[in-house]
Amino acid sequence: MARKLAAGNWKMNGSLAALAEVDALIGDLDGGCEVLLCPPATLIAPMAARATGSALMVGAQTCHPATSGAHTGDLSAAMLAEAGATHIITGHSERRTDHGETDGDVAAQTQAVLDAGLIAIVCVGETEAERDAAVTLNVISTQLAGSIPEGAAPAQIVVAYEPVWAIGTGRTPTLDQIADVHAHIREELSERLGAAQADHIPLLYGGSVKPGNAAEIFGVQHVDGALVGGASLKAADFGPIAAALAAS
Ligand code: 13P
Repeated sequence: MARKLAAGNWKMNGSLAALAEVDALIGDLDGGCEVLLCPPATLIAPMAARATGSALMVGAQTCHPATSGAHTGDLSAAMLAEAGATHIITGHSERRTDHGETDGDVAAQTQAVLDAGLIAIVCVGETEAERDAAVTLNVISTQLAGSIPEGAAPAQIVVAYEPVWAIGTGRTPTLDQIADVHAHIREELSERLGAAQADHIPLLYGGSVKPGNAAEIFGVQHVDGALVGGASLKAADFGPIAAALAAS
């Protein structure tokens, strides 16, 4: 069995004042699952300071593949680790779209995360046009194969399935559709790494997860947690989602 992880992605939202949400969230945690928040990079250190001594972990939303150098505006995985990050999201669809990141770029970033000793949350997911064209599983296979570097240590990998059309839209796949994709991801990872390793990789679902739909999504086989956007910004929403995962 994989460990359970409730991960929040604040995207480009939040401020020092918003860290009051962290205090509220920490108060709610019952230890039944891992809980992670990935704020904007400027908030990693203050959030990590706030989370000291609690079960809350703090992560980053992306990193540069290099360890240092002439890359104005970028941050390395080691820098993010020093700020307090234990996890880094790679290959989020917003990075793939806004910054033209390819599977190759994502693999290089993921390798950098692993080299820094952190856990990579590697995102994959189809567009609506791809789902309509019935090529979802092919798209997922290609992204998985291209985004997870050769020789990656399974203990440092988490995979998040985020259908692009479900992100921020209030729309979600059916539970059967989620089950199909998650079973497919587990199978692909098993073929590549062996079942014993693949079974321990947490598979997260992401895309319009809310307190109202979390429990049913966590009931789906091979769903080990969630990557939550909008509903991770408020402890009143994210706390119940983490509680639903702990109870699943
Ligand atoms: P929403 O939960 O806002 O749909 O965002 C999902 C997401 O992209 C998390 O990375």
